[in-house]
Amino acid sequence: MSAARPVALVSGASRGLGLAVAEHLLDNGWSVAAFSRSRTEELDKALDRRPDTFSWVRADVVADDMRRTVALLEERTGPIDVLVNNAGVLHQELFLTTSEQRIDELFAANLIGPTRLAQACARRMAGRGSGVILNISSINALRGFRGVAPYSAAKAGLDGLTRSLARELGPAGIRVNSLVPGYFETAMTSQVTDQNRDRIKRRTPLGRLGTVDEIVRVAAFLISQESAFITGQTITVDGGLTS
Ligand SMILES: NC(=O)c1ccc[n+]([C@@H]2O[C@H](COP(=O)([O-])OP(=O)(O)OC[C@H]3O[C@@H](n4cnc5c(N)ncnc54)[C@H](OP(=O)(O)O)[C@@H]3O)[C@@H](O)[C@H]2O)c1
Repeated sequence: MSAARPVALVSGASRGLGLAVAEHLLDNGWSVAAFSRSRTEELDKALDRRPDTFSWVRADVVADDMRRTVALLEERTGPIDVLVNNAGVLHQELFLTTSEQRIDELFAANLIGPTRLAQACARRMAGRGSGVILNISSINALRGFRGVAPYSAAKAGLDGLTRSLARELGPAGIRVNSLVPGYFETAMTSQVTDQNRDRIKRRTPLGRLGTVDEIVRVAAFLISQESAFITGQTITVDGGLTS
């Protein structure tokens, strides 16, 4: 990592987990480069608080050229040490009625775009001989749930990407892991019905959904030197739901 202030790129930092990871890193001496398709009030406040260390550009992980986006952000922050590949989209619908367009969108946002982003960052990291990529997966990649088939398949694909990249990029000094959260409270889970929320709690040994902070702390560990010998792993943080 850079001698001075390490730099993390966080995709999807306008709210939820991405913004929480960005804020945690900024509070702990990092510079953060971020993008999302839209701005939110909470993102604006975070950018105002740290004009020197927090950079954001508007970009779509599906539609935009990730090589250009990464180059643009590096011009502002310096070389990116860590990618938190976080942007993702959930849409719940039974498989039999899901349109082909929706299937394409879910794969594009949760797998193809993040794969291109990982490549854009990995090429630069490989040239420097070090880096960390943390892919944000989901327990839907590990267990079957109704109404989320394309999302689950895309996230399982991301875990496959993690394992292969760890092998291929390890010799270049790049670690690659998946963080696999269970359900935690954000805008994404606000669409989970009360009935499903109760079912999730009943099936979770710890009896509740997670908090964003509980996921952030594990993300911070997985990108830090504390986990310097961990690569190619899927680390599950789900209150025991998949145990
Ligand atoms: N919440 C959960 O319970 C849960 C559980 C397991 C895994 N996860 C995973 O955790 C990650 C974060 O989820 P969250 O709960 O924080 O979701 P969220 O609150 O909906 O935030 C998603 C973020 O991704 C961005 N984003 C979505 N599509 C994008 C695109 N095409 N290009 C660029 N940015 C895009 C959004 O910004 P814009 O809309 O402004 O672009 C937003 O900043 C996701 O990968 C999700 O699949 C969440």
